[in-house]
Amino acid sequence: MEVFDTIKNYLEEIANSELNSQEVLEQFRIRFLGTKNIIKPLFAEMRNVPNERKKEFGLALNELKDKAEEKYNLVKSQLDLSADKIKPKGLDLSLPPEPMLKGSRHPVSIVMNQMINIFEKIGFVVEEEREIEDDWHNFTAMNTPEDHPARDMQDTFYLKNSVTNLLRTHTSSVQARVMTTQKPPIRIIAPGRVYRNETISARSHCQFHQVEGLYIDKNVSFADMKQTLLYFAREMYGPKTDIRLRPSYFPFTEPSAEMDVWMGTDTDTTKRLTKGTGWLEVLGCGMVDPNVLKNCDIDPEVYTGFAFGIGVERTAMQKFDISDIRLLFENDVRFLRQFSSVV
Ligand code: DAH
Repeated sequence: MEVFDTIKNYLEEIANSELNSQEVLEQFRIRFLGTKNIIKPLFAEMRNVPNERKKEFGLALNELKDKAEEKYNLVKSQLDLSADKIKPKGLDLSLPPEPMLKGSRHPVSIVMNQMINIFEKIGFVVEEEREIEDDWHNFTAMNTPEDHPARDMQDTFYLKNSVTNLLRTHTSSVQARVMTTQKPPIRIIAPGRVYRNETISARSHCQFHQVEGLYIDKNVSFADMKQTLLYFAREMYGPKTDIRLRPSYFPFTEPSAEMDVWMGTDTDTTKRLTKGTGWLEVLGCGMVDPNVLKNCDIDPEVYTGFAFGIGVERTAMQKFDISDIRLLFENDVRFLRQFSSVV
């Protein structure tokens, strides 16, 4: 029968065809295995084959299909192999990849997070507040009179066309926010960025960070404050750290003090940061002025409290031996990458 001959011819064609390139192989695939291949129509011939030869015909068709697939797969794997061999050297996919660059925390964030952890351990709760403030929360409530020099345009960034809205000059504004919305006992820390209209130099910047603390309850004393700050200093700077409190003045505390931490003068950085004295000034503090409590509707006859404001940059510079505060705000990745191993 003719169809049997056709099958035989195709089988011979498959056996003899020389598939020596991807193109020829593709033509072969289309001819024998593609969606419109030449084997498919032969199946329709089945009904013309006499019953006694139907089985033989079916087997022959299957063999034809198998042989085509076999030949195709064999040649394809050989061609793929030789293609691998001649692949250009620049594309060696087995080479290990370039190491991935991981992000790193900013030194200011690292130090600020450490400070937060230290106070959270003794029950202080984080309060985050706005950086654009009004002058009531930033100054008036904090007992800073209208004619106080700190309100001067020289020190404060006021918003355009506004005499009341400003970039907060300290995180003490959060004290007023909290005291007008919460009732004592209050025990909060407020980390964040502050702004001052200052000339930028190696030592000072127009933006920096503070961690504010506020503790108000019945019978809170100066001794409580001192012990809290000593605990902080020893957690932050080492268990044997010495501190000293110097009398100072802030409008919102009475009495007021500044706290120094003993660093020594062993390195160039400590020498520079301590101006040669060995004492690093890290925070301002004091007992909350009764006027501040009154301004925020808290009865100073019943409640007392202490507050403090820690400067973050100076500690970051001391911890990481950074000589110029401007490096902290330039976002130079060569600088920032150095902190990727610190958490
Ligand atoms: N707000 C002060 C500053 O910016 C720091 C400060 C001093 C905060 C005494 C306080 C405090 O809470 O009690 O320099």
